[in-house]
Amino acid sequence: MIVTNFKTYQSATAENAIKLAKIHQQVAEELNVDIRVAVQAVDLAKVIDAIKIPVFAQHIDPVGFGSHTGHILPEAVKAVGAQGAILNHSERRLDRETLKHSIERAKEVGLTTIVCAETPEEGASFLEFDPDYIAVEPPELIGGDISVSTAQPEIIENAAKLIGGDKLLVGAGVKNGKDVRICIKLGAKGVLLASGITKAEDPKAVLMDLARGLS
Ligand code: G3P
Repeated sequence: MIVTNFKTYQSATAENAIKLAKIHQQVAEELNVDIRVAVQAVDLAKVIDAIKIPVFAQHIDPVGFGSHTGHILPEAVKAVGAQGAILNHSERRLDRETLKHSIERAKEVGLTTIVCAETPEEGASFLEFDPDYIAVEPPELIGGDISVSTAQPEIIENAAKLIGGDKLLVGAGVKNGKDVRICIKLGAKGVLLASGITKAEDPKAVLMDLARGLS
């Protein structure tokens, strides 16, 4: 599985988000692989209308209908057609209670959760909340040129042992098919990435290479 987090990159915002999401759909169809995208809340509706592959929110808040100005309501994310939400990304950290409650709310409305962790141990500590996926990303490698698979492959092996391969995504600095191949070989189910695609001159070519790394 490849999940691209569009973050707030200009190349992946508003009309650009739709264009980039369509490229993800093309590659998913051409290579018959599981590719998903996580877009900003304001782009969810348009992106979901434009593509068939699963779309995630980058965050939800553990609120319900009512007086919660400025929050991202799980019911609204579900109603617009999103498959799930990322939670606790290192750029959007949550305290443990808030994370637990957010996962519960996601389950109540039927959203798939990708919960981020900064270490394998932290990821394993989230198993008690029963998220669908746990994405381990060493924060110091996020957005950098050296991938987790090159700099710290032992993190992936350790995470696979502690978390189990079925739930495990890894990320940080993932840029090419070779990185993906190593992540899978070391026990991950897939990768979570951003800049390798959002900063690429030819995102389709990069995504094709990444997707080939899955097999
Ligand atoms: O959510 C994905 C992420 O934080 C990794 O970012 O730019 O290192 O692929 P990047």
